[in-house]
Amino acid sequence: MAPPDVVKRVEQLRRLINYHNYRYYVLAQPEISDEAYDLLFRELKQLEEQYPELITPDSPTQRVGAPPAEGFAKVRHPRPMLSLGNVTSPEELQAWRERFMKLLPAGTHVSYVVEPKIDGLTVVLHYENGVFTLGATRGDGYVGEDITNNLRTIRSLPLRIPLAPDGPTPPARLVVRGEAYIGKEAFERFRAEQEKLGHKFTSPRNTAAGALRNLDPKVAASRPLDVYLYHIVLIEGAEKTPQTQWEVLHYLRDLGFPVALNWCRRFDDSEFDALTKYCADWVHEKDALPFEVDGLVIKINELALHEVLGFVGREPRWAVAYKYPAEQAITRLLDIVVEVGRTGVLTPRAVLEPVFLAGATISSATLHNEDYIIEKDIRIGDMVIIRRAGEVIPQVLGPVKELRTGDERVWRMPKTCPSCGELVVRYPGEVAYYCENTACPAQLVRRVEYFASRPAMDIEGFGPKQAKLFCGKGFIKEIADIYTLREHREELLALEGYGEKKVNNLLNAIEASKQQPATRVLTAVGIRFVGPITAQLLLDHFRSIDALAQASAEELAAIEGVGPRIAQSVRAWFSHPANQRTIDRLKSYGLQMALPQEEKPEPESLPLAGKTFVITGTLPSWTREEAKAIIQQYGGKVTNSVSRRTTYLLVGENPGSKLQKAQQLGVPTLTEEELRAMIGE
Ligand code: IVH
Repeated sequence: MAPPDVVKRVEQLRRLINYHNYRYYVLAQPEISDEAYDLLFRELKQLEEQYPELITPDSPTQRVGAPPAEGFAKVRHPRPMLSLGNVTSPEELQAWRERFMKLLPAGTHVSYVVEPKIDGLTVVLHYENGVFTLGATRGDGYVGEDITNNLRTIRSLPLRIPLAPDGPTPPARLVVRGEAYIGKEAFERFRAEQEKLGHKFTSPRNTAAGALRNLDPKVAASRPLDVYLYHIVLIEGAEKTPQTQWEVLHYLRDLGFPVALNWCRRFDDSEFDALTKYCADWVHEKDALPFEVDGLVIKINELALHEVLGFVGREPRWAVAYKYPAEQAITRLLDIVVEVGRTGVLTPRAVLEPVFLAGATISSATLHNEDYIIEKDIRIGDMVIIRRAGEVIPQVLGPVKELRTGDERVWRMPKTCPSCGELVVRYPGEVAYYCENTACPAQLVRRVEYFASRPAMDIEGFGPKQAKLFCGKGFIKEIADIYTLREHREELLALEGYGEKKVNNLLNAIEASKQQPATRVLTAVGIRFVGPITAQLLLDHFRSIDALAQASAEELAAIEGVGPRIAQSVRAWFSHPANQRTIDRLKSYGLQMALPQEEKPEPESLPLAGKTFVITGTLPSWTREEAKAIIQQYGGKVTNSVSRRTTYLLVGENPGSKLQKAQQLGVPTLTEEELRAMIGE
């Protein structure tokens, strides 16, 4: 037993070390020398070695490495990570079967495997000679992120296969795909513990995703993550290669991987009706499962048919997800609050008694507008039906009038803006109410937030929190003030959590945003109806924001894709003196206000001019989109189907039926390498 003074000293050392870690890593303002820090750390380590019973997982000595500064490395998947098409009814499932059957020779034997569709995060695991060497996220399907160190912390993930001594010999190379998740019970326990500490976790999926995307593996290690594997992406040098999906599942299990075999079923094509019924009935079973699911996956069992059927877009023809329609719940409407958007639109939002629905705790939902509330007769205090489909914002569908007590209160849009107190207005023919005070503080925060956001100027480290804080402190009074924020450097440094490094990064990111193209500037100023696409359309035509500002509504409306509504909005925005001033100020700070001069080489002089390409199969290093963009850049055209007019068929691994077609028509083929040579890359 450790004497009480040692226990106390250990606690004190941990507090000190944590504090200095914070000064060093977060604030970048160390208070003590590295030597002094090392002394504290060594003393703690020594005491813990002497009294191991004092070691706790959160002791600074138990950290898994230091917090890495950079992001995750990118990993190109050996094959594209496809997603799945959806069906939501027996009829649609039947239609799926009919679609692929037409593509198979008559009499082909087909069977199916039905698996639970686990609601977690796709992971791709690489094993070299049985050793886990790399784990990645799905990313965009072509390139994911290297999260090996986070995945290593998952206790059910084998670091070496086979787990059992009598298991199959591991293949030289194996890449498997699966789902990382947190089980329902484990999540409940974790959530309850964390709640006591004041931390909120709403859903198993988000908790799992947050952990795997965290740069500190300690976070993943502290969460009850689990994994299920279901797919072989690549297998090389194996003693025996599975020929069916059913064999894949058993092979993976024999190697020691967790596989959801208990919940997987096999059906013959002659049993398709039974399969359909199984899927439709399963909605009643799913709540009893130990993990969250968002449906089932039906796969053709014969792997050889997967090759034959291939995929359309990103979806394989040989598998489909059976999803259940959006889920509903009943809860109490505690209040209706009004939110002010960046254009001054007032949106009513429901404050709900928290309720668990479709994998998340919901405490807020949209109520659209005042008319909707009147039409549905939704009152504060009502029990209301809410609906949530996938990741979208939950909706209030309406009240359960039978449950009314008489204490419910009718709600109407307030006559004044909840943020600035100005009278609100509603225009004939519109459902929305507006606060027209451009100086309204809530609108300013929203405008600033939008200006810095991803689709607009994309200023890293400048999110909604910063917008609210800097506007609240008075550092930003209009959007252009973002570029004078550095005059407030000292005040920023005095803010809690804003150390030298963070402030420098933020100010540098703001400075760097001055190089963003004019289309982003035009998007960012927040003209109603002008998002990134319209901004591009407008500038393609006018080339500069100044020229656009001079354009008449008629001129604007004449552009294809710009109707009278957008034209009117653009005109109105530029005729406002305050907005004109914003543009002038942004210009004076050096932001890009015009598209660069185009220097397009003569099309005929490009190496691929006049040539038409079709692409098939997986290319060694380009995605199809990349290949298409490159061909176009060099003057070529890309079409979808092979005809006599096709100049070349660009062929990758696992080519589809286009190859046969090209051979029939005598269209020459080309590899990625040959194409590179043509364009001199
Ligand atoms: S098969 C080509 N099987 O669902 C292979 N996916 O909507 C396509 N998922 O991103 C995937 N459980 O992460 C497959 N048993 C299962 C699955 C499953 C969950 C996920 C997967 C994918 C998403 C597609």
